[in-house]
Amino acid sequence: MCGIIGYTGYSQALPILLDGLSKLEYRGYDSAGISVFSKDQTHTTYRSAGKLHELKRLTERSKATGVSGLGHTRWATHGEANTINAHPHSDTYGNLSVVHNGIVENYLDLKQELTNKGHLFNSDTDSETIPHLIEHYMKNGASFEEATEKGASRIKGANAVVVMCNDQPDKIVAFRTGNAGGVIIGYGTNEMLVASDIPAILGYTNTISHLLPGELAILEPNSVEFKDRDGNSIEKEKTVLANDPISLAKGDYRHFMLKEICEQPNAIIASLMGRLSSEEGLFSSDDLNLTVKEIKKISKIMLAGMGTSLHAAMLARLWMERIAGIPSEWDNSSEFRYREPILDKNSLFISVSQSGETADTLAAMEEVKSKNISQITLCNYLNTQASRIADQTLQIRAGLEVGVAATKTFTCSLVTLYALAIYFGLQKETIEKNEAAKLIEELTRLPEMIGKILTNQSQYQKLASIYHNSSDFLFLGRGYNYPVALEGALKLKEVSYIHAEGYPAGEMKHGPISLIDESMPVVAMIPKDALYEKMLNTVNEAKSRGAIVIAIASESDDEIEQKVDHVIRVPDVSDSLSPIVNSVPLQLISYYFAVRRGCDVDQPRNLAKSVTVE
Ligand code: G6P
Repeated sequence: MCGIIGYTGYSQALPILLDGLSKLEYRGYDSAGISVFSKDQTHTTYRSAGKLHELKRLTERSKATGVSGLGHTRWATHGEANTINAHPHSDTYGNLSVVHNGIVENYLDLKQELTNKGHLFNSDTDSETIPHLIEHYMKNGASFEEATEKGASRIKGANAVVVMCNDQPDKIVAFRTGNAGGVIIGYGTNEMLVASDIPAILGYTNTISHLLPGELAILEPNSVEFKDRDGNSIEKEKTVLANDPISLAKGDYRHFMLKEICEQPNAIIASLMGRLSSEEGLFSSDDLNLTVKEIKKISKIMLAGMGTSLHAAMLARLWMERIAGIPSEWDNSSEFRYREPILDKNSLFISVSQSGETADTLAAMEEVKSKNISQITLCNYLNTQASRIADQTLQIRAGLEVGVAATKTFTCSLVTLYALAIYFGLQKETIEKNEAAKLIEELTRLPEMIGKILTNQSQYQKLASIYHNSSDFLFLGRGYNYPVALEGALKLKEVSYIHAEGYPAGEMKHGPISLIDESMPVVAMIPKDALYEKMLNTVNEAKSRGAIVIAIASESDDEIEQKVDHVIRVPDVSDSLSPIVNSVPLQLISYYFAVRRGCDVDQPRNLAKSVTVE
């Protein structure tokens, strides 16, 4: 959701804050704002609706000088995405500046209480209650830090907040209440930074500490003090980030989404590195610490995620059942936590969240934790919020993904889950060693197969030029390709704003068929697998009703051309791996349709890369 950055040091703050925000824009891009504080105890605030370039334009007109400040990119929850509701927000007299991520659940009560005391509010946001609350305590004699601590204790819900005050322009106070996005403290040389996400501060430091829910940090250029929820000073561990080959440059690519789609062969290699080295040691104990005894005891696997990560969870269930022989279920994290699922002490919970920040997934994980059930989380990085809840983190190692639509993090989650299923199968002896060796051998060829798919992109441009005005699409698949159909429909909706539905092909006759006519293209996954004939029947039924059918089909299929309107070829691959291979053409379809329709591919309207509010 919203991106936050704060800086205090000896360099000019404005360019540092703008640079940080440009690396956080994928978290929210409805509006943006910055406050720069100067030593003469004043601050200048710039706020602008729309994307970051609007704010940059504004700051170019009059460049505020000052060596500390804070900034924000917004994904609106309360109040329209306009300039008045953009952060930073201030108090009645403009002494404070506050940026916020999360939802102040009791903001209506607080606003009423503060309005009764004479506070004047400007915006429709819940966030604006925070500076007024702090102002209230300062008016009653509390220092800036004390007032912020008191304010933090009054706020309900999951929130991450950064506050600055004219009285002490080189001081930043940051706090968290609940699991609303991370707060990372960065230790520079004679400078300190705070941000919602690592990329924003990587250019300045790679030494960080994470603020936990309930904690507060007071930053000055050469020091930081941490406090727990009772106000006691605490020591915090410093983490030195590994030199990650994070590149925020698009290079020769027009969009991050295309760059990230094309990075998949290398990303998958990174994901699998060290995880396919020997038949039984797929995962080393530093990577996954489960004994053979513990794996043998697993009675059931429950998988959860949201969006694209949910589709990865759906596929993993099939692998866990068929390869590892473990009864498995999946659910949306947001549904799971309210449905009182039946899990026993030998159940294993696996959450999938590339960001490790999705509020619904974190809440589902907390629910599982409260029942003392063992859990693993799959995230793109270690040290995420999800890692702190789970017993173990399996890092998918996709590298930074900037495009809001998940692409390489999806396939990297999939290969990690696939390798995990093989590993569990070997430990539980539900799969023969030679069979596992075949699956692993094929998995090592996946980057090459995807590389081949990526070579012929003109076919997607051609499809987009013919069908970009279609208002509805249907995606069909069976078995392993049903979750892929859902993912294909989700991607198209997300980036090209075309209405699309994904269905298990067998369902078509039970409703969706009534929608079919020549104006609704049908994308059908028809690999040469056990369900091939059945998929062909569905395609014939759709064709008989005038549908345009685009087939994703195996290279060796020499009948398909006569049966459908367009064929996208993918390498021949086993049934179980075909969903990973098939998801790549679907990503390319969404991408090229979005480009043809002139959509903002990397920052689609109304979406955010990680959804840190419920
Ligand atoms: C948002 C993003 C999706 C993503 C989902 C789950 O909705 O727009 O692309 O799949 O969150 O994110 P996670 O970080 O938990 O995988």
